[in-house]
Amino acid sequence: MWSVFKNALLLLAPLLPFNPDSQTAHLDKNATYRGPLADGGAWIDAFQRARAIVRNMTIEEKVNLTTAVLGPCQANSGGVPRLGIPGLCFNDGPAGPRYTDFVTQWPSAFTAAASFDRDLIEERAVRIGKEFRGKGINVELGPVTGGPLGRSPYAGRNWEAFTPDPYLSSTMSFLTVRGMQSSGLITCAKHYILYEQEPICTGPLDGEGGRTDCIDISSEVDDKTMKELYLPSFAETIRAGTGAIMCSYNRINGTPACQSNDAMNRLLKDELGFQGFVLSDFGATHSTVPSALNGMDMELPGEYFYGQRLLKAMRKGEIPQSRLDDMVHRILTPWFASKQYTDYPAINYQKYDLADKKEINGHVFRNEHVNNKGDNYLFARKVAAESTVLLKNSGVLPLKSIRRIGVFGTDADYPHTLSGCGPDLFCLVASDRRYWNGTVTIGGGSGAAYADYVAAPLEAITLRARQNGIRVDHVLHDDPAHFDAIGWVAYQSEVCLVFVSVFLVEGWDRQHLRLDKGGEELIKRVEGSCSGEVVVVLHTGGQVLIEDWINLPKIGAVLFAGYPGQETGNAIVDVLWGDVNPSAKLPFTMGKSATDWPTGNIVREMGQKSDPYPRAFFSEGLAIDYKWFDKWDIEPRYEFGFGLSYTTFEMSGFSIAENYQPVSDTIQPTNERYEGKADLYDVLYVARVNVTNTGKVAGAEVAQLYMTFPSSEVEQPPKHLRGYNKPYLEPGQTQTVDFPLRKKDLSVWDVEKQHWRIPKRIFTFCAGNSSRSLPLHLETQIRESALLVI
Ligand SMILES: *[C@@H]1O[C@H](CO)[C@@H](O)[C@H](O)[C@H]1NC(C)=O
Ligand SMILES: *[C@@H]1O[C@H](CO)[C@@H](O)[C@H](O)[C@H]1NC(C)=O
Ligand SMILES: *[C@@H]1O[C@H](CO)[C@@H](O)[C@H](O)[C@H]1NC(C)=O
Ligand SMILES: *[C@@H]1O[C@H](CO)[C@@H](O)[C@H](O)[C@H]1NC(C)=O
Ligand SMILES: *[C@@H]1O[C@H](CO)[C@@H](O)[C@H](O)[C@H]1NC(C)=O
Ligand SMILES: *[C@@H]1O[C@H](CO)[C@@H](O)[C@H](O)[C@H]1NC(C)=O
Repeated sequence: MWSVFKNALLLLAPLLPFNPDSQTAHLDKNATYRGPLADGGAWIDAFQRARAIVRNMTIEEKVNLTTAVLGPCQANSGGVPRLGIPGLCFNDGPAGPRYTDFVTQWPSAFTAAASFDRDLIEERAVRIGKEFRGKGINVELGPVTGGPLGRSPYAGRNWEAFTPDPYLSSTMSFLTVRGMQSSGLITCAKHYILYEQEPICTGPLDGEGGRTDCIDISSEVDDKTMKELYLPSFAETIRAGTGAIMCSYNRINGTPACQSNDAMNRLLKDELGFQGFVLSDFGATHSTVPSALNGMDMELPGEYFYGQRLLKAMRKGEIPQSRLDDMVHRILTPWFASKQYTDYPAINYQKYDLADKKEINGHVFRNEHVNNKGDNYLFARKVAAESTVLLKNSGVLPLKSIRRIGVFGTDADYPHTLSGCGPDLFCLVASDRRYWNGTVTIGGGSGAAYADYVAAPLEAITLRARQNGIRVDHVLHDDPAHFDAIGWVAYQSEVCLVFVSVFLVEGWDRQHLRLDKGGEELIKRVEGSCSGEVVVVLHTGGQVLIEDWINLPKIGAVLFAGYPGQETGNAIVDVLWGDVNPSAKLPFTMGKSATDWPTGNIVREMGQKSDPYPRAFFSEGLAIDYKWFDKWDIEPRYEFGFGLSYTTFEMSGFSIAENYQPVSDTIQPTNERYEGKADLYDVLYVARVNVTNTGKVAGAEVAQLYMTFPSSEVEQPPKHLRGYNKPYLEPGQTQTVDFPLRKKDLSVWDVEKQHWRIPKRIFTFCAGNSSRSLPLHLETQIRESALLVI
């Protein structure tokens, strides 16, 4: 809860209500079940080192490791100086190291997801990981791997995660954890789990524009939906070896996530075999004993329920010694496994403060301004350009021999506020954090990253115009007072570029799916006057309704650029002028009307008076995003997987065949139960399709594979993404692409037998270039290879 915890977290501590009764009030019904003690799994050597050293620790030292202490980072955990174990430094977040300088503000995860490009996603992660390492951060509080997943378009934090599709999210979560940890950093996959909306807040704004009187939502979900939709991305982060996982603010079927035996002990540690540690989101701990017994291993960012209270509970025998040892084993095992004890950089920054030196309570913290960015600005620009989705194009793009461009909208400009933007170039308007002034490159809250600079669209367009002898006029206002000036400039422009946005912030779900600051009116005004065609650039953190203007006669092109990070302007110029041929696809569905989505899937009010908390019933089950649109036959404006190019492609020669390949990328195995002999992550089949560039310019196309389960599986929506592959092709070139299908990709969770199984009977597979453009079909039965079942 960024708004509450931003500055004076430690000062707030005594104000938090503490009611010992509430510790037992929310205990799981199945309170007898206790999670497994860690055994290290594939990190057996690291685990043994951890165990050896824990044997020599006092109880105070063990508790110290599980609890936050004062430090320079966003959060610091305690260490054991006597045994040479340092405390750990924790810092946000998914789009780059937040709160410090000489770092890159990367395109956000949901923006990068639009690239549908596995190599790009992994390299982005490797580069982000090295920036964290350079600052001496031990644990990155990221990536967001499915909490939220994106159940509702109204959720305020969807832009921090990849996509509502569990296959796309899973594959990207795996690559991101593996890439980020490759430099020795420890990742913290978050927010576990079913965190699909923000709390309900009924109080007035606090002095800083944050929210007050907030109450967490209970996410009410069934077993099958949990296993098939919300859990898979977390399973992949465990397979990829994430050292930490963050439990979330919400309740799960009534129990706070950070004391849910079912979520942490049963699913995460037993079924998924997680060997690392679970740490609490900031303020998400509600108890001492239930949290410890039900699987929470560390409390951050202050000492409320762990620390002295945990020590007291240990002394009273309320928590077994074996469980405290387990907590410490889990914290130290990833630290040993990542070899951070060898040559890891020391902490060399201080959160919020970019000055060289700061003193807190007699401790002096220094910022050494370590610069580990290398050429990341170039790669961030590439990610942003490769993730820009071309939604509409009359042929106006790429821009050709034009002489006069008009640029419109505050979103084309640098971020500004009357009071200055502060050290993070964070330009929130006045005292209300929901509003932003200037180009939107990232959202607010813990998913934000500091930018060292922002290459504003207007600046990049101007530099490009200088090279090409183009005149650029602009009106950088959105308000009706400037509509006359906007009309006049538009009238003189051959091409009108309109920049509009939606700024999203942690703590606030969306009230509607429209643009900020009357963006629709701005677009219509420009369209009404422009001499030539209008190109609209959308900088939004999710779905927007565009029916007001999409079919107006002069709307020539629309680009969905998401939250592209600091290189925003350069990336959009690359696409506008065709230096980069757009190849991104929407990683979610854009509907035509708010009623296209299930109504009320964001809870905005308390329910029954008798309920102590509001409940969100996940009654749509597996059918979120395109699966909902498919199931109810709703025509979207732009479907999941859609995106145009400056060239054209054709697909042919679709086939599928048995092709057993044992799993080779698992770093930590899970304990998931399944039928048959093959491992759940073994590849059983491979589908193939030929992609040909039939146009005149080179470009990349995302070939997509969708699967329909046999009709016996009545809970299943019509189709599921099960493969994507992005070949880059010269004009006339053909390439065969593979879609490996793992056993889990072909399986359903059997709620009666409590295991994964492959349905018998006929599956349908389709290939094409979006979830609604699938010209190639085939049908087949799926079975485990005869060779394998000896
Ligand atoms: C409690 O959990 C254990 C382990 O999953 C299970 O075997 C047992 O049946 C559960 N008991 C109840 C009452 O749900
Ligand atoms: C634990 O303490 C014993 C006795 O002082 C010592 O021999 C041993 O090396 C210590 N182990 C570790 C891992 O520090
Ligand atoms: C707890 O951790 C802090 C920070 O590493 C350290 O200064 C302190 O000495 C530790 N306490 C004990 C009991 O080891
Ligand atoms: C927004 O930025 C513009 C400059 O582009 C500035 O004139 C205006 O005062 C800013 N508004 C606020 C509320 O800070
Ligand atoms: C996508 O596939 C459809 C046929 O299914 C085709 O008409 C369309 O041109 C393709 N799009 C691109 C950009 O090649
Ligand atoms: C796919 O393309 C390759 C050339 O890249 C060609 O050899 C092959 O015959 C094609 N397969 C089908 C089924 O069309």
